[in-house]
Amino acid sequence: MKYLRNTWYVAAWSDEISGDRPLARTLLDTPVALYRRSDNTTAAILDRCPHRFAPLSAGCVKDNQVFCAYHGLGFDGTGTCTHNPHGPIRRSMDIPSYRTHEAHRAVWIWMGEQQQADPALIPDLSYLAGAPETAFSKGNMVAQGNYEIFVDNILDLSHTDYLHPTTLGGAGITGTKPEVHETDDFVDVTWFVPNQSPSPLLKSLFAELPEKTDTFQRVRWYAPGVMRLVAGSMAAGAPEAEAMANFNAHILTPETATSSHYFYAATRNFRVEDGELNQQIAATREHIFGTEDKPMIEAIQNRMGDAEFWSLNPLLFSIDAAPVRVRRRLQRLIDAEQGDPC
Ligand code: FES
Ligand SMILES: [Fe+2]
Repeated sequence: MKYLRNTWYVAAWSDEISGDRPLARTLLDTPVALYRRSDNTTAAILDRCPHRFAPLSAGCVKDNQVFCAYHGLGFDGTGTCTHNPHGPIRRSMDIPSYRTHEAHRAVWIWMGEQQQADPALIPDLSYLAGAPETAFSKGNMVAQGNYEIFVDNILDLSHTDYLHPTTLGGAGITGTKPEVHETDDFVDVTWFVPNQSPSPLLKSLFAELPEKTDTFQRVRWYAPGVMRLVAGSMAAGAPEAEAMANFNAHILTPETATSSHYFYAATRNFRVEDGELNQQIAATREHIFGTEDKPMIEAIQNRMGDAEFWSLNPLLFSIDAAPVRVRRRLQRLIDAEQGDPC
């Protein structure tokens, strides 16, 4: 599968990577071993020993190097072979490494041309870094579906009316045309639903909400699969500044052509010291993603099989405005990177 390579992907949440054992993660069809050095910086190397191809992640981290569990070769975070108990070290023993950078509570990895890896290109998710612990939650999962199906899912929130009717749905997104706005750096899609009953989830969490609210949902997509979602509700007719708002991140990193790492996180602007509410929101989200979105995306992948998305002639409605623009834009970026003139 062709992936956009010269870009930052999230490889892990920061607290998933330690200095004890490497973390094994397949990213863009490539096995990667991630670990932390004693100066707290992170490193990523190919997770395949060049001797007999053992996963280096099965080994241990010592003195800022990873030692193969099979016959003891050692490598540093640049992929340079540093130890060979069986003879001299030659440069042919070196393995690929990947630049990493820690930002917004996540470890980002650059799988393309290593000289091009510029941390300034990481999308701004600083609202996650600054969130108090009692108003922050996160998680991640692997799902057996292509990452673009997940991206479609967030860029078309009309699915909440059908897939999540007892929680997020019912607030009238279907009846609202999404507004799409593009710049060189991102694609924005916004839904504004005036004067509706709050969603079932909001009603169950907040008895004090008025009968009728205005709600807005805004997704900002950065290539290839990083999305910021802000969702807010306020009394009908009130200014947006009075909204109870959630600030979410939905981040997709391809594992393979048909599986994805899904990283998600949220913070909010109300009851930020209420740790119990925080847990309640996190548990509800796990339930919704794990029992509704993930199975649907996996079922879609199953029905699509190996077919390319456009080859199946999908019907297109106004709800698809943002997903279609993003799919086409991502394809242009991938083609440009691969030097495809068409
Ligand atoms: S497989 Fe790693 S040293 Fe032999
Ligand atoms: Fe969903």
